[in-house]
Amino acid sequence: MAFSFDLGTPINTALLLYILYSVQRIILPPTSKPATIPNEFKAGYSWLPKSHPPTVLYKVYTPRTLEPFSGRDGGRILLAINGIVFDVTAGRNFYGPNGMYGNFAGRDASRGMAKQSFDLEMLTPVDQPLDKLEDLKQHEIENMKGWIEHFSNKYIICGKLVENDAI
Ligand code: HEM
Repeated sequence: MAFSFDLGTPINTALLLYILYSVQRIILPPTSKPATIPNEFKAGYSWLPKSHPPTVLYKVYTPRTLEPFSGRDGGRILLAINGIVFDVTAGRNFYGPNGMYGNFAGRDASRGMAKQSFDLEMLTPVDQPLDKLEDLKQHEIENMKGWIEHFSNKYIICGKLVENDAI
């Protein structure tokens, strides 16, 4: 049976018109901008999110300026290991006020990480010079580096820790 296309049939006419319309939309897409730019994804890619996603700014911290980032107010939680400041807000269960490692929040956690202890005596008071870690044994330094590796893979590095009088 030979294929025949009868334009006299209404359904064929409708189909042909639809095909012509679709081809025209592909060749000559509408260029007018929508009256209001959508702020969620519906179709196409011309949309703007409601607000800019949160950004993390790399900053220089001192023990005193790091201390407020303890998460006690429900805000961001930062901690430092060997001068590297990590944003550990995502680990609030660990570092929040009721977290097992809450002592480290807003503090230089180097010694505790090296010696595998979350005791308060691992922390240097915030108004004193930075812990030089000079008495640490090689295996303790290696342990601390292991934690830096873990934190680098899991959290965002958001600054460095310097002496209180350095800035
Ligand atoms: C009482 C013994 C301890 C137990 C039962 C314990 C248990 C745990 C558990 C279950 C995790 C979660 C692991 C994961 O989900 O990835 C963890 C992570 C961790 N532990 Fe311990 N821990 C103990 C001692 C310590 C000590 C003494 C330190 C001191 C440095 C320490 C520091 C950490 C840190 C820094 C993490 C990583 C948290 C993170 O990924 O943000 N833990 N621990």
